[in-house]
Amino acid sequence: MRIQFAGIELANPVIAASGTFGYGVEFEEIVDLEKIGGFVTKGISREPMAGNESPRIIETASGMMNAIGLQNVGIKAFLEKKLPALRRYPKCAVIVNVFGGQVTDYLEVIRQLNDAEGIAAYELNASCPNTDHGGMAFGTDPATLDELVFRSKQLATRPVIVKLSPNVTSIPTMARCAEKAGADALSLVNTFVSLAIDIETRRPRIANVTAGLSGPAIKPIALRMVWEAAKSVKIPILGMGGIVTPEDAVEYLIAGATAVQVGTATYADPRAVERIARGLEQWCTRHHIEKVKALTGSVETTRK
Ligand SMILES: Cc1cc2nc3c(=O)[nH]c(=O)nc-3n(C[C@H](O)[C@H](O)[C@H](O)COP(=O)(O)O)c2cc1C
Repeated sequence: MRIQFAGIELANPVIAASGTFGYGVEFEEIVDLEKIGGFVTKGISREPMAGNESPRIIETASGMMNAIGLQNVGIKAFLEKKLPALRRYPKCAVIVNVFGGQVTDYLEVIRQLNDAEGIAAYELNASCPNTDHGGMAFGTDPATLDELVFRSKQLATRPVIVKLSPNVTSIPTMARCAEKAGADALSLVNTFVSLAIDIETRRPRIANVTAGLSGPAIKPIALRMVWEAAKSVKIPILGMGGIVTPEDAVEYLIAGATAVQVGTATYADPRAVERIARGLEQWCTRHHIEKVKALTGSVETTRK
């Protein structure tokens, strides 16, 4: 199940998604961190952030809406209080999700991360829909995405994965833009901008008014976007959106992803990432697939 992903070695291709797995350490008692491919930290900014007002998370018919607003401890506390504990799990890849309001904010976080040990890669959040400075502006405009990725790559001493927004007209355009600017890999998708209204009060159910939709509801759209991106670029793709079962992960790999991330499923089952990693291995054994990478992009779309 071991794979190479953008120069990183992963024990298996199943990774916990940003914002749904804390800073990893919170899960060490529940999940065997060395049985998962790795995890992406909550988005880290230059300064600590308190996030949005409550209510900021609600359940939907088949997923959830959140407008956490990128609450996080900030880069200094992450390096001092969270990262050292993770060095106990050398086989678990730690990918740090980075965001900021300006390109220079991203660069400052990357500069500080460069000096730290025990990090496999950086994931640039160019796509959070829930704050004014969550990066979605970077992910929806090719010129700003180009500048963010190019300058981050110049500075970064580790692979740079760019997390794209699904809230765009053309995924191939943004995917090619990130690749051309030097991205080592792409993550997609982040959450979809959405709205829920309490019909009694006629008020939005989320204090921020709009929120990001995730979970099984988005899977067919996200899968289509991963497939489109995979056809447009040569760099590897981390696919995500509504993965709950090992078979969902297989579907993403066949669509063109090299590895996958699991987010919302962790809320219903805190061991979801480990369960899906184990189930994927069993699925491959049952189907006589020796190397999981053989699945990547194996979708057959020509007419019979
Ligand atoms: C509560 C919550 C918080 C999130 N926070 C972040 C974040 O800080 N940075 C980021 O890039 N994505 C964040 N995401 C998006 C997820 O990483 C993932 O892209 C998205 O939820 C789709 O996957 P899923 O359907 O498996 O959850 C968050 C998602 C949720 C549900």
